[in-house]
Amino acid sequence: MQAAVVTSFGTPPTYQDFPTPTPQAPDEVLVDVLAAGLHPRVRSQANGSHYTSSDQLPLVPGIDGVGRAPDGTLRYFILPDTTMGAMAEQTVVDLRRSVELPEHSDPVLIAAAMNPAMSSWLALRRRITFHPGQSVLVLAATGNAGQMAVQIAKHLGASQVIGAGRQPERLASLTELGADVTVSLDGDPADVARRLGQAARDVDIVIDYLWGQPTADAIRAIVMNRTDAGRPLTWIQVGSVAGPTAAIPSAALRAARLQIVGSGQGSVPTRDIVTELPELAAEIGNGTFRIDARTVPLSDVEAAWKDRESDQRIVITADAPAHQ
Ligand SMILES: NC(=O)c1ccc[n+]([C@@H]2O[C@H](COP(=O)([O-])OP(=O)(O)OC[C@H]3O[C@@H](n4cnc5c(N)ncnc54)[C@H](OP(=O)(O)O)[C@@H]3O)[C@@H](O)[C@H]2O)c1
Repeated sequence: MQAAVVTSFGTPPTYQDFPTPTPQAPDEVLVDVLAAGLHPRVRSQANGSHYTSSDQLPLVPGIDGVGRAPDGTLRYFILPDTTMGAMAEQTVVDLRRSVELPEHSDPVLIAAAMNPAMSSWLALRRRITFHPGQSVLVLAATGNAGQMAVQIAKHLGASQVIGAGRQPERLASLTELGADVTVSLDGDPADVARRLGQAARDVDIVIDYLWGQPTADAIRAIVMNRTDAGRPLTWIQVGSVAGPTAAIPSAALRAARLQIVGSGQGSVPTRDIVTELPELAAEIGNGTFRIDARTVPLSDVEAAWKDRESDQRIVITADAPAHQ
């Protein structure tokens, strides 16, 4: 079969022949892959930088996707940490880590949206106790996961959603997705801190895709401006597009009722993730959330990898091989 194959962590995957995998356990099946998302997590899997990376090569990247199972059902699946990923004509899926989709589902939409949507869906539903009526700030709301977070926070009952990001056009479009307020993260850090300190000082929950220096600055700005220092502030660390480490001032943890938690693979148990899949897939399938996606055929995977400029979520599509 054909697959996207990584042979060196320094170079993008290439389209080439790869042995068809075989199911090894009773719950495993070989699926014909229809669509697999090129998420930031997949890029870090393919360049060996993700915290779950095992350094094993060659590997086929892709952590999730939509495929056709041998019984004819359409399924969204999440793969375990494996070198046999989703960006191939076929892959092995554990049925317990998959959900059957209605036949009319759009594989591209599901493959594009599930991963970015899951980041905030799981954070709010499984990692913390979120109450409808609480307010939510999304940092890096202009990214794919951030735009989902704005929509999901609103959908789950947030009283106010504040979207913060850099790119002006995307920032402006967040109001159409449900943001009540937007804050620009562009420009002088002191000005950004002032804007956040005003707009988000009394927020209840932060969904943070940034980390790095912008997060350290944002924590200081919000904590120092709180109307009521005793009001709980739950900071959920979900992504790190601005840096892997952040220097959080110790005073911030003493001066306000701030707690910082992380949400991702590991801190949310696999069983919780799997439990949430059907409802989230149904909402996405019903068109509850919007995502801007673009398809690229598997044969062009190398070019897709080199395209870092597009804001759209790239979805790799495969034609199933002819069955013998
Ligand atoms: N923990 C989880 O469960 C989970 C799940 C999915 C994703 N994630 C993580 O979440 C992060 C975002 O994913 P994504 O799918 O939204 O990626 P994405 O679509 O590539 O968006 C990332 C956004 O980050 C913004 N950005 C980058 N560097 C920045 C900086 N220095 N300061 C401010 N904004 C910056 C950019 O917005 P502007 O153009 O406005 O600057 C960009 O649109 C990634 O780290 C991903 O690995 C985590």
